[in-house]
Amino acid sequence: MFSYKNLVKSIFKKKTDLISCYYESGSHSLSHILDVLKKVDKADKIYIPFFICQEVIDVLSSKDIEIKFYNITNELYVDESSIDLSTINDRTIILIINYFGFPANWEYIEYIKNKTKCIIVEDNCHTLRSSYRGKALGKYGDISFDSLRKVLPVLSGSVIRCNSQKYIISNKESKLPNFSQIKYSFRSLRKLSKKIIPREVSNSHYYSGIDVFSKTIHSKYLFDYENIKEKRVANFKFWENFLLSRGLKRILNLQNFEDVIPYVFPCFINTHNDIKKWMEWGYANNIVIIKWPNLAKDKFIGNNSLKNVLLFPVNEQQIMTQERIIHEF
Ligand SMILES: Cc1ncc(COP(=O)(O)O)c(C=O)c1O
Repeated sequence: MFSYKNLVKSIFKKKTDLISCYYESGSHSLSHILDVLKKVDKADKIYIPFFICQEVIDVLSSKDIEIKFYNITNELYVDESSIDLSTINDRTIILIINYFGFPANWEYIEYIKNKTKCIIVEDNCHTLRSSYRGKALGKYGDISFDSLRKVLPVLSGSVIRCNSQKYIISNKESKLPNFSQIKYSFRSLRKLSKKIIPREVSNSHYYSGIDVFSKTIHSKYLFDYENIKEKRVANFKFWENFLLSRGLKRILNLQNFEDVIPYVFPCFINTHNDIKKWMEWGYANNIVIIKWPNLAKDKFIGNNSLKNVLLFPVNEQQIMTQERIIHEF
């Protein structure tokens, strides 16, 4: 949720962050990255996972590039058996997602990279601050991008990070927030409202910058990441206890990861009918549950169990407790 308090505090601070490549959203960053890779590497093909959101498909469809799919396992790793390495070369991009802030199977991805010299784009849109084997997520791919508004109380923004000196990314001018962003920003002030205001994100040629409010906060405000982590982990554990005892199945176990700030608590649901029931339950309790991915049903042809995934919120602005649940399931 956007915070005007953070904005006011940030305005009077000295600049601390030297990031220069801000774009409006993850989609806008990805679009720009693809343009750069087509130019620098003559990239002509991209492998993407079946388990993916509509926003990424929309960006790719606006580019002249061949799209191939690979599968994702129930552990949310790249399924090694679904990629034919003989079809990959130094003009092939492989998009890797660190799902929900958890690391992908980077050992295998690095193996593919060494063997085929392909280009790895790391989609870090669900990551706030996580690391794997002592290295921050976002530093694994040749180039990576995130989505600030998904994980921080800002209105827009995405940062592109180049891990290869080959690529030069131009900055996009920041702009005043648009009407829909301003409307969204007041949501935090309307505490009594239960209505969820959806954010509209512009995709006008996918080439816009971050809004000035969000840039000011992101570049100057010092977020207390340890505190955010503690709260998100506590919420994650709450959902683990609450949902597993009600028949839902865990996808990711935090205990298996050293340093992760979770984006949500993802879980498998048995049937489509159960999804409906849980969504209604969320609505009754004013808890935003997301069905992910948001693809049309017929477009999803990968691993079947990933068809029924729900995401429960763990963001630090709300602390999940049993008392918070007004209507039992
Ligand atoms: C994995 C992933 N990548 C990219 C995007 C696009 O990010 P944005 O919504 O910031 O455009 C999304 C959006 O949901 C996503 O889930």
